[in-house]
Amino acid sequence: MQCEPGEYLVPEPDLSVCPVDLCTDDDSGLACCAKPVPSLRWGLQSDREGVLQHAYEIERAADPGFSTGVVSTGRVPSEMPFDGQWPGAALASREVTWCRARVWTDRGVTGWSAPLRLEGTLLEQKDWVARPVSPRSNVGRSGTVAVPLLRRSFGVDKTVLQARLYVTALGIFECWVNGRPVSSELFEPGWTAYRSRHLFASYDVSDLLHEGENVLSAAIGDGWWRGNLTWMGRRAIYGDTTALLAQMEIKYHDGSRAVIATDGFWRGSTGSMLAADFYNGCEIDLSREQPGWREPGFDDSGWEDVVPIPLPGRLEQRSAPPVRVIRQFGARPERDGEGRLIVDARQNLTGYLRLAGKADSGGTIVVRHAEVLEADGSLQTAALRSAKATDTYHIGPGDFDLSPSFTYHGFRYAELHLPDGVSLDAVQVCVVASDLAEIGSFECSDDRLNQLDSNVRWSQRGNFLAIPTDCPQRDERLGWTGDIQVFAPTACTNFDSRAFLESWLADLACEQASDGQVPSTVPNVIQGHEFEFGGIGWGDAATLVPWALHEAYGSKVVLERQFDSMRGWVDWGSSRLDEAGTWVGDFHLGDWLDPGAPPDRPQDATTDRDFIASSYLAFSAGKVAAAARLLGHEDTAQHYRDLACRVAEATWRHWQSAAQKTQAGCAILIAFGIAPEEEISGIGRRLATLVERSEGRIATGFLGTPLVLPALTLAGQHDATFRLLLNEQAPGWLYQVVNGATTMWERWDAILPDGSINRGIMAADDAECMTSFNHYAYGAVGAWLYRSLAGIAPDEAKPGYRLIHFAPQPGGGITRARARIESPFGPAAIRWVRNDTKLHLDLEIPPGAQAHFQVPQGWAPEDSGAQAPALLGSGRHRFTLAPC
Ligand code: BGC
Repeated sequence: MQCEPGEYLVPEPDLSVCPVDLCTDDDSGLACCAKPVPSLRWGLQSDREGVLQHAYEIERAADPGFSTGVVSTGRVPSEMPFDGQWPGAALASREVTWCRARVWTDRGVTGWSAPLRLEGTLLEQKDWVARPVSPRSNVGRSGTVAVPLLRRSFGVDKTVLQARLYVTALGIFECWVNGRPVSSELFEPGWTAYRSRHLFASYDVSDLLHEGENVLSAAIGDGWWRGNLTWMGRRAIYGDTTALLAQMEIKYHDGSRAVIATDGFWRGSTGSMLAADFYNGCEIDLSREQPGWREPGFDDSGWEDVVPIPLPGRLEQRSAPPVRVIRQFGARPERDGEGRLIVDARQNLTGYLRLAGKADSGGTIVVRHAEVLEADGSLQTAALRSAKATDTYHIGPGDFDLSPSFTYHGFRYAELHLPDGVSLDAVQVCVVASDLAEIGSFECSDDRLNQLDSNVRWSQRGNFLAIPTDCPQRDERLGWTGDIQVFAPTACTNFDSRAFLESWLADLACEQASDGQVPSTVPNVIQGHEFEFGGIGWGDAATLVPWALHEAYGSKVVLERQFDSMRGWVDWGSSRLDEAGTWVGDFHLGDWLDPGAPPDRPQDATTDRDFIASSYLAFSAGKVAAAARLLGHEDTAQHYRDLACRVAEATWRHWQSAAQKTQAGCAILIAFGIAPEEEISGIGRRLATLVERSEGRIATGFLGTPLVLPALTLAGQHDATFRLLLNEQAPGWLYQVVNGATTMWERWDAILPDGSINRGIMAADDAECMTSFNHYAYGAVGAWLYRSLAGIAPDEAKPGYRLIHFAPQPGGGITRARARIESPFGPAAIRWVRNDTKLHLDLEIPPGAQAHFQVPQGWAPEDSGAQAPALLGSGRHRFTLAPC
């Protein structure tokens, strides 16, 4: 709903609230704006209590003083400081525009925010005059090849006003202007469904140019395009040629322009990087370095020419944060009893080592990586399967400072082989990840749970690398859809995962089959494998990841963009229903890695996979119905509501007693609303009995695990909840913790109780090891730590923490807990401390938000006259409760 500026009455000013940090929903940090119709967001700053936003207005102008070409959204009723409409016409390529916002609060209208400058990127395919180019000898090479280098020198003879570089690669690139890197980003342009969408970056390179000769240069790693991918030994999945696509647009002070684009004038060669591969690592020979090749004055007449290469996908600017080194710390190599030189980073992680030192006469340095050590102290590399995870440097005499290019490793330990005469001055551990903002923190009085929380976070860091991956170390590192489906609510609480997962969901939609089936890995690189379509739980990433984003960040935009994909997946499932309304007989990965499944057949879980399939379908159909309602498609909503009810009823009829035989079965019946309301407490008791019988050991796989604690909480089974959470025996979350885990393990018992490593034989005939120490799926428990133990959750009725649900569950001997989330409204937090007689709580609600506070079971307000109001407004609130 819009109206013209001036149409409304002059409102009272509200000077107690300030709209701040106006930005778009683009988190790339790039120079230009990725979308022609960006959606805007802002923060509300205020010291006042009870602040609410009722409406906003966004103005746009051609200048920061808002004097020319002003257009406005008018007053738009909305309680949300995001999903702000774009005023006026779509942004054009290269157009510069200014925006500002103000909001109507419960008291009046605020002042305007500081202006935001936006510049359209290359928004249309026809804006590109550049063509991808590759050095001739790099064309059609599917085996290991030296990393191609490209350079182009050009003259600048006038004063530069502004220069933009739009750049991408078939492969992954690093790029320099006059020898200086254009950014600190790694593995650009990331990994997408390249055949459909190919990302590029835009950089402000104005300050890197000078009068005279300039050089634009790049190195192109194989990356996901041409490198090894999958455990099946596939390579060059997207093409056997890597190439650079670059377009530098220079504006001079005198109004003239120049464009330096990849074309036939570029020159190509190779240098010190003999090989670079994600799985295998890199090999660098410093004697092959061509000194000065990135700088002006270098003679490239001996370099070869380049040839144009077609680009298969549509070009789109990246809108998610880039991959980079997000943290560095020093580590000391130590000799073990066998004379091995081992670096222990004391944290399992994703990244690489940087080595600085001196060599008397040179030689070869080899760095091998592993997540754990064998009993004899050697690196345990069986878990890496075919990934060599080895960086090799051939060096000469003198000082060196070495780090690998175009690769990363999942490791805690590294073994260094140094030639005689080499001494190390420093070893730096470089942690590599998609650089997402850490928005959540959790802490409580039980250090084992704090370590569990830390392990979950490190697994997210290690696996949020361009796409959400299963693991960072072995020959997979793929976008397994089931893993992120279960982990998304936790992911969205720990780190701002919005733009990152939105980008991946766009790929999911591109890779979805025309019948609605969703591949098990996105991007889909396992075509033809029996697991290509992993069915339920994996395919539900299409519905449940957008829903998790909506719940955590409140935006409807993701539901709008993904709606067809969400619906496609549920339509596929509903086309598989039998007459009874159940989904029976299809292949599903199911409750993968349930500890009761045979070690070589993790898909043969103890909970009936047809029951899981039917339950998930009912649950996902419910989410599609909810999304349709929010988007205003009432008829569609009714259709999916009916479907959800019909399938839930049929599932209950068919499996009501069979499902209650397992922890996962009971958890699904409760958490997915399959069981009728009046059955919940009985099933809760049954689940508690199962937990009791297993002496607190968990018995669920990837799909049951995120649901089991929420189900026990929902059913009011407080003691069983803590029995399961705090159990230290295998299988259990704390079993990993007390056995020294610093990230989440793929298998509950990746290290067996006798201390040996569970190789988890997958198939007797290929003796493949399937044991990763960095898999976040079981870390899905993280959301429960926030939502129930500490007690802070977004309420589905008003997502994005517009309405906060504070419902702490003190128990398990825990005496204090706190959690804080940088929500779209600002910081939301809870802190509780208990002793035998009191429970003190502090709540923080950001401006624009409200909250419910649910008094925990067994407690009541100290002063029974002082009941908490039903709805708390923004500000700080304190309660003291006494046992009742
Ligand atoms: C991956 C998983 C994935 C599973 C499904 C494994 O190899 O590492 O995390 O979801 O396969 O088949």
